[in-house]
Amino acid sequence: MEDLSQHILDIAFNSLEAGATDLTITVREDTVANILAFGVLDNGRGITQNDIPKITDPFFTTKKHKRVGLGVPLLQEAVQRCGGNLEIKALPRKGTSVTAVFPHDHLDRAPLGDITGTLIALITGRQPVNLTYRHKYNNRNFLFNTRKLCIHLGAIPLQTPEVLVWLQNYLDENIANLRRETNEELGRTG
Ligand SMILES: Nc1ncnc2c1ncn2[C@@H]1O[C@H](COP(=O)(O)OP(=O)(O)O)[C@@H](O)[C@H]1O
Ligand SMILES: [Mg+2]
Repeated sequence: MEDLSQHILDIAFNSLEAGATDLTITVREDTVANILAFGVLDNGRGITQNDIPKITDPFFTTKKHKRVGLGVPLLQEAVQRCGGNLEIKALPRKGTSVTAVFPHDHLDRAPLGDITGTLIALITGRQPVNLTYRHKYNNRNFLFNTRKLCIHLGAIPLQTPEVLVWLQNYLDENIANLRRETNEELGRTG
């Protein structure tokens, strides 16, 4: 079974293939409303209204070198397996948004997995991208943005190994804290 972070990477690659320079990845976990949702929003070339219904079709791809495109259909299957919801929206002249919603506690819901790995893969990819990551866990928020980090780094490139090692730890720690602190709070109040 694929982790959700692998689906997120797949969907984000579609954005890069569509020429996106801005990418926003959002993860929202609400254990009270029983929701785990993620969204990938881009400013790429977009999808025509005509093509929107087709992109969940495994035989639809606009790539020249292949005849099947499985990124979206595989995500759709993962969503449907849990009775969740997948929404793909073309934002005219703005890009595309893909949102997947899962019941948080569903037994077939894949774990989020290595989201840090997904973010690092996007940051170190061939195509430079301004990446925003927002992770909400119940009432806690973590927000990360490559543009802000670059301003802090000044002349040091984001892809410097030392920076990437630091970034890996920074993301891992903050995402883990999101859960830890909320769980402690829940423990205190109930
Ligand atoms: N974010 C996006 N922006 C523009 N087009 C997209 C986007 N996501 C998907 N598509 C379109 O949907 C098609 C199918 O996507 P996918 O299922 O991931 O297969 P593949 O990427 O292998 O073609 C892509 O070829 C592309 O035409
Ligand atoms: Mg794809």
